[in-house]
Amino acid sequence: MERNLKSLVNKNILLGVSGGIAAYKSAEIVRHLRKVGASVHVVMTKSAEEFITPLTLQALSGNRVSTELLDVEAEAAMGHIELAKWADGILIAPATANTLARLANGRGDDLLSTITLAFDGPISLAPAMNQAMWGDERTQDNIKKLETQNFQICGPGSGEQACGDVGMGRMLEPLEILDLFSYSFNEGKMAGKSILITAGPTQEPIDPVRFITNRSSGKMGYSLAQSAIDYGAKVTLISGPVNLEPPSNCNFISIKTADEMFEAVMHHVNDKDVYIGTAAVSDYKPAKMQNNKIKKDGSNSSITLELEENKDILKSVSALKHRPFVVGFAAETNDVIENAEKKLSSKDLDLIVANDVSKKEIGFDSEENEVTLVTSADNYLIERQSKKKVSNKIIEFISERIND
Ligand SMILES: Cc1cc2nc3c(=O)[nH]c(=O)nc-3n(C[C@H](O)[C@H](O)[C@H](O)COP(=O)(O)O)c2cc1C
Repeated sequence: MERNLKSLVNKNILLGVSGGIAAYKSAEIVRHLRKVGASVHVVMTKSAEEFITPLTLQALSGNRVSTELLDVEAEAAMGHIELAKWADGILIAPATANTLARLANGRGDDLLSTITLAFDGPISLAPAMNQAMWGDERTQDNIKKLETQNFQICGPGSGEQACGDVGMGRMLEPLEILDLFSYSFNEGKMAGKSILITAGPTQEPIDPVRFITNRSSGKMGYSLAQSAIDYGAKVTLISGPVNLEPPSNCNFISIKTADEMFEAVMHHVNDKDVYIGTAAVSDYKPAKMQNNKIKKDGSNSSITLELEENKDILKSVSALKHRPFVVGFAAETNDVIENAEKKLSSKDLDLIVANDVSKKEIGFDSEENEVTLVTSADNYLIERQSKKKVSNKIIEFISERIND
């Protein structure tokens, strides 16, 4: 069974199919869902029937395919409200531009859209359409609206399309979609676990008005904290100064200097199952903080700032007698994996998350990330996607390692 599909076992999944070329792939989605032990009920839009027959999906799902809202016979058997109550999750794949627009606007003018209104669990959508339709401002506005309404958007991917165009809009492959969809059912995988996360930069004072810092935005650490909470963990977040709201249900500790972060970590780490050090802790600090602002007095064209090394927080946590599962981050600009492997062994970590910060689109302050999870046994690439999705995958990976 695929790594992440375990959460779909014994789930009741309502698969919505709308009218796009990729509808032929719905048959494969049904097969995978059945294979992992989910029950499947398919609901098709009118247009979808032009692309794939209900008979095929009925044979594969083992359940009658529903297509009509105003069908007396169907309503008497399993009507729209019963279907909404029966389902643990809804996946619509493919989701056409039209279906996205109708869902974004809360329409209930066919069976599928009406069920989504009556349903209050997780709904995932796998958009599939021509690249121009996907790029259209109205489609993009609908996607943004759906995201804020907590629909999970799986894809689309890019590449060659059925119509011959090349670009964004291809439906993701069935297993990629199911992998993402399965995250909706992962809550609780970290239930009962305590996690300590550090995030953001530190500030090392030179004098009362100046300090040394770095460009860490804290986004990755905050996103990991939220994911860990979503998965049921109790989270303590120790953060340097950033422009982010901490998740509402975590124990939040604000610090400025590397020394303060060290103290806070050592104070809170004892009862933790996992320690994740995403903070960009300054390696050095001014050897002496000047009590008064350093003035330019005209006699010196240069001044020297003496720096001394800060304590290594990650190494100190790994060295504890009763240590948690220790996760480090390696932001590298060259020989990314090699450098991460060196850090993994020199700091005696259980896992290191390596990312190439020389790439602008996945660097420090970007919305997306691509990372490789490196352990002493194996490497696992998480391809470029939103930091939120990357965080979910990292937490999922850690949960599997600590629950082994
Ligand atoms: C051959 C053909 C292929 C189509 N493929 C797509 C598609 O991949 N994605 C899409 O959004 N619309 C596609 N359409 C348009 C939809 O079928 C149309 O917008 C329809 O109203 C969708 O209805 P539904 O969302 O209720 O299923 C296609 C139309 C035709 C004729």
